[in-house]
Amino acid sequence: MASTQDAPGAHGSAKVLVASNRGPVSYQVGDDGSLTSRRGGGGVVSGLSAIGPDAGALWVCSALSDGDREAVRRGIVGAGPEAPPQRGGGGRRAGEDGVLMLDIPADVHADAYNGIANSVLWFVHHMLYQTPLEPVFDAEFRRQWASYEAYNRAFAEALAGRAAPGAAVLVQDYHLTLVPGMLRELRPDLRIGHFSHTPWAPPEYFRMLPDDIAEQVLRGMLGADRLGFLTRRWADAFEACCARFADGLGDTRIGVHGLGADADFLRERSHRTDVTERMAALRDEIGSAPDGTARRTIVRVDRTELSKNIVRGLLSYRQLLDDHPEWRERVVHVAFAYPSRQDLAVYRDYTAEVQRLADELNSQYGTPDWTPVVLHVKDDFARSLAAYRLADVALVNPIRDGMNLVAKEMPLVSDEGCALVLSREAGAHEELGEDAITVNPYDVVGTARALHEALSVGPEERAERSKRLAAAATALPPAQWFLDQLHALEEQPGPSA
Ligand code: G6P
Repeated sequence: MASTQDAPGAHGSAKVLVASNRGPVSYQVGDDGSLTSRRGGGGVVSGLSAIGPDAGALWVCSALSDGDREAVRRGIVGAGPEAPPQRGGGGRRAGEDGVLMLDIPADVHADAYNGIANSVLWFVHHMLYQTPLEPVFDAEFRRQWASYEAYNRAFAEALAGRAAPGAAVLVQDYHLTLVPGMLRELRPDLRIGHFSHTPWAPPEYFRMLPDDIAEQVLRGMLGADRLGFLTRRWADAFEACCARFADGLGDTRIGVHGLGADADFLRERSHRTDVTERMAALRDEIGSAPDGTARRTIVRVDRTELSKNIVRGLLSYRQLLDDHPEWRERVVHVAFAYPSRQDLAVYRDYTAEVQRLADELNSQYGTPDWTPVVLHVKDDFARSLAAYRLADVALVNPIRDGMNLVAKEMPLVSDEGCALVLSREAGAHEELGEDAITVNPYDVVGTARALHEALSVGPEERAERSKRLAAAATALPPAQWFLDQLHALEEQPGPSA
């Protein structure tokens, strides 16, 4: 491995760099001032572990909490973008475990993350605006946009300072759309990739952005050698935007990489004792039908994002109980809606509406022995896996979703195989549509019908279909998903390093 001294100029020694807002580790400060860390999962984490600890990888992310900032201050996860790369044999490690956390000022980060990424770009790509009143691109928006630029610049500079000559840089998601263009200017020698984990808006919706901002986003992305998307549909939408609002794609190539579920990990993890314990607790909550048989379950597990359509899911369940009273007392809707982006009022309101509707359903339809909706809002991975194992029906009905891994995981993990009710607007529908029961996410009556159909599928057909769903869901495991992108970027004819 090249040490820092081998690299010319201000270059660093990292050969593979990942950049994302949320990093693979987060820190909490305890009452006694001690720091504890928690590691996350996901496709990029699997990919980096597949290339191994000696591949010269560096993950650049943002400090998100007070604990993270404290970890930066204590030098555990590297310093700011201006810090020189570490010298000597351990040159690839700018901090513990090859993670460099950027201590971007909290107000700048809040503008960029909450203001622009989550309240504008996320809304545009998921088409979530209630357009009579929003969006409003006013002076406050422009002020926040300047923070988004500063935040992207901090990443670009950190990457430029740490990357070895000709290194591969894999930039993640809508938080960092400007990074490829900025980095290209700073370091023309690098191989730059960007991956979108969300849908991409069609041109008619994308053009809602002010013209100069829309152009800046596209030009930022087109600074990359290669852009990755989860499905062909999102890639096509991006290309259509470039055809309309930029001069096409230029030299940038597009790749589609449909992230799959991690079968080995899930199968092993879902059979540990903490999961079986939670299955027993859930079975108690679900209870038995009047004839003594186990109740059927309609399971959903989501982060409570506005795009997940949890409210219409509950309305569809209520419609099912109205249209098919024979299911009353024989079915339970197990809904796990975990907190997400609670800094935003619109997310808090949505979470409250989910809770209110679940309570209303339980008081209107429930009996002393039957709770129609079992709602949990506290994140518990082992309990999610327990629900997956118990699922008779998986309900995945997003308004719009980049992929949706729950749709891929539940058929794989469910003990008896489950019937999948799946929105045609989820990226996963491109791969799973054939063996799922497809719904229009806005059609509550249609979704109720689909739930009835799913509950009525016979055990053999259900097992068969689930097997096919699981096969399609695991076609591209996370490590391979990452390696495919890395190799495609490295093999692409590009700048001479
Ligand atoms: C969802 C999206 C990802 C995105 C992530 C950010 O999972 O599918 O594209 O990166 O949200 O979540 P966060 O909690 O960091 O805002």
